[in-house]
Amino acid sequence: MNILILGGGGREHSIAWAVLQNPKCDRLIVAPGNAGIAEIAECAALDILDGAAVAAFADEESVDLVIVGPEAPLAAGVADALTRAGVAVFGPSAAAARLEASKAFTKEICAAVNAPTADYARFDALEPALAHVRAVGAPIVVKADGLAAGKGVTVATTVTEAEAALRHIFDGDDGTVVVEALLTGEEASFFCLVDGEDVLPIGSAQDHKRIGEGDTGPNTGGMGAYSPAPVMTPEVEARALAEIVRPTMAEMARRGTPMRGVLFVGLMIEGGAPSLVEYNVRFGDPECQCLMMRLGGQALDLMMACAEGRLDAARVNWADDHAMCVVMAARGYPGAAATGGIIAGLDALPRTSGAMMFHAGTAERDGAVVAAGGRVLGATARAGTLAEARDAAYAMVDAVDWPDGVWRRDIGWRAL
Ligand code: AMP
Ligand code: GLY
Repeated sequence: MNILILGGGGREHSIAWAVLQNPKCDRLIVAPGNAGIAEIAECAALDILDGAAVAAFADEESVDLVIVGPEAPLAAGVADALTRAGVAVFGPSAAAARLEASKAFTKEICAAVNAPTADYARFDALEPALAHVRAVGAPIVVKADGLAAGKGVTVATTVTEAEAALRHIFDGDDGTVVVEALLTGEEASFFCLVDGEDVLPIGSAQDHKRIGEGDTGPNTGGMGAYSPAPVMTPEVEARALAEIVRPTMAEMARRGTPMRGVLFVGLMIEGGAPSLVEYNVRFGDPECQCLMMRLGGQALDLMMACAEGRLDAARVNWADDHAMCVVMAARGYPGAAATGGIIAGLDALPRTSGAMMFHAGTAERDGAVVAAGGRVLGATARAGTLAEARDAAYAMVDAVDWPDGVWRRDIGWRAL
């Protein structure tokens, strides 16, 4: 098979790494890729938001499967263009990608099937939204409706903070906002492959969204993750599937917009009861790096079965293992990051089925690897226990010589 992966972060490096372990993969192209991906696959320059261009490229290169990493191409209809061109694609249609692209849409789907999620109200204008938060009071959660790269949510502890978030969202423009109740408990991410109505769980993870140790400071895309999430017991998983995932996926199919691809189920769990915080329609990053390390080469068979609508017969071979990913970011992240610095020491790192330094924002310059983004590397390791996985991941972090690098030393603290 010839396979094309769209994206160029740690998520896509880990997917490429897993796909290459499967003997069915003959040729692997990643667009745009990064310096680490370039070591294991062909990288192509391609406008990944342009469905017609991606479909034409897939045709020229005789691509058998396209795996879409990030949400933006999905929301832009790239999977639809590929489907129309007869190319198998792992990733949902634009209509199904609304589960991530519109928070109001997901709340409406949940309401239609009574799936547990925070009580909410939707507003399309500032004044009624302000009146609502003043009436309900804080704490309260304010969410911009559209894709906001993880920056559209304010968990407000005061009414003033909620008002400021609303003013920021409407800021002279039209907008839509979801205002919802605060959920309490422990968060976990649950990943399921979905092809219409068939749902196949492929693992859980917990990530660390805050920049600072002890989960403090500004939100980031994720500073580290581990899998599985201890809070996702078999009982919680069964409830999440029965009460949230299966009914909402059935509702999507009933409306003629079935989900196909990976569903990232963001849950809040309290007293064994899961509530939906959000859906995403792609793998989380860095969570994906842990999942790919645990799944290995079977990830390709699972994604292909999903793309071809054969999930009912697919099975996951579970290993009783744990994985951790520690993100190394460029100083300044999540604000303006110090890019351009040379990263040394990468060549001496292990590259095994249980330890990999995945690249995110890296580029090659004059034969050296340099930082080219906010989140730059993901030290990912797998072992029989989470403590051993942590030790192996941090051993890789410690072996890297990169003066601009910053990272948290406490990834996994809640579980350890
Ligand atoms: P989202 O983009 O919807 O995942 O929100 C980002 C983060 O905000 C989540 O991962 C939670 O930590 C937090 N969050 C979102 N909604 C709620 C809620 N209703 N109650 C508590 N925390 C929330
Ligand atoms: N790590 C969170 C995300 O990918 O959305």
